[in-house]
Amino acid sequence: LKEYMESILEHANALIMVTDTNRQVLVYNETAARVLGFGKQEVLGQDLIRLVPPEDRDLLTTEISRLIEGKPSEAGMEIHLRNREGQLVQIVFHLALLKDHRGDADSIILVGQDLTPLRRLERQIIEAEKMASLGKLAAGIVHELNNPLTSISVYAEYVLKKLESGSLDSKDIEKVRKILEGANRIQKLTRDLVSYSRPAEEEPELTDLNEVVRQGISFCEHTIRKYDIVTNLELASDLPPLLAIRNQLLQVVINLVTNSCQAMEGGGELTVSTERRNDHVLLQVADTGVGIPDSHLNKLFEPFFTTKKSGQGTGLGLSIVARIVEHHRGRIEVESSSGEGTAFSIMLPLGGPGNHEKKYA
Ligand SMILES: Nc1ncnc2c1ncn2[C@@H]1O[C@H](COP(=O)(O)OP(=O)(O)OP(=O)(O)O)[C@@H](O)[C@H]1O
Ligand SMILES: [Mg+2]
Repeated sequence: LKEYMESILEHANALIMVTDTNRQVLVYNETAARVLGFGKQEVLGQDLIRLVPPEDRDLLTTEISRLIEGKPSEAGMEIHLRNREGQLVQIVFHLALLKDHRGDADSIILVGQDLTPLRRLERQIIEAEKMASLGKLAAGIVHELNNPLTSISVYAEYVLKKLESGSLDSKDIEKVRKILEGANRIQKLTRDLVSYSRPAEEEPELTDLNEVVRQGISFCEHTIRKYDIVTNLELASDLPPLLAIRNQLLQVVINLVTNSCQAMEGGGELTVSTERRNDHVLLQVADTGVGIPDSHLNKLFEPFFTTKKSGQGTGLGLSIVARIVEHHRGRIEVESSSGEGTAFSIMLPLGGPGNHEKKYA
């Protein structure tokens, strides 16, 4: 029976170790030897801590002391061990206390699972997902480029033929205008794509959000007028300046205001407000437009998600907003009810973009 038990212990698909209360290794099974690359003679009788890199040592010693004091053990402690080649191997261990016949702490049994293959798989999945969204992005770009490019080449060819045969007349001016329209659309697309993929070009500076809102609104003036919209500004007078990339915030305001206007075909009310909330500021853009159906809420921020007619919306506006807000370590909330309107709330921390924090601390 003893042999049978030993063979189970040796060949179980888990790292099994037993130490005394001073962490001296008493049992070290085959699987542990295989994962770590150290032979039994190198580990048995040694302090277990020698296998643990310095930054994880506390975790292990605290856990062992807790067990010896009779406290319940953590469910699954993740630590690293150093293998023979000096590489870190991530293991999740379950620890248990063994007592002697008097009921005193005798030894600690550690049963561990190597997480490295699992983590590798996780990374591969994340990578694959990134590639998939890159593929989607590329397909979207190609689609968006194709329409205006087709009209440009069709009309250019038409004008060229007419020029060659000497029959071009003033009615053909429409065709040239179409060519220009196509070129403008491509220009807007490329600009949007650049702000989507590279939103962080400038340094953050202390920014007055109210002033950014006023400027954003004035940039959208012609859209606001076109849709016959009444604007209310409710800007907090005690708003502290926040560390931010000004032009990016401007872009956020413009994109949100544009969307709101487009959601109010027959006119409506646009309310842009700012507010201080502890160490955040709140920017809210609310409209009395068509609203967003629940089923669209989770796709809203995806690049190229649009419900607008081809040529009217690319679906990049909100994905740019999301990128910028994320870069500023902020948060976005959307509230909407069908037929009544939509409110986008953006919370921005006063501290600004994460990776610039130190410079301004
Ligand atoms: N305020 C709003 N009210 C109703 N629907 C909205 C509002 N804002 C966004 N949406 C919906 O979200 C979709 C995506 O918006 P987004 O700004 O990303 O793209 P778009 O406006 O369609 O195109 P683009 O901004 O690139 O010109 C819109 O097509 C629309 O369906
Ligand atoms: Mg938009």
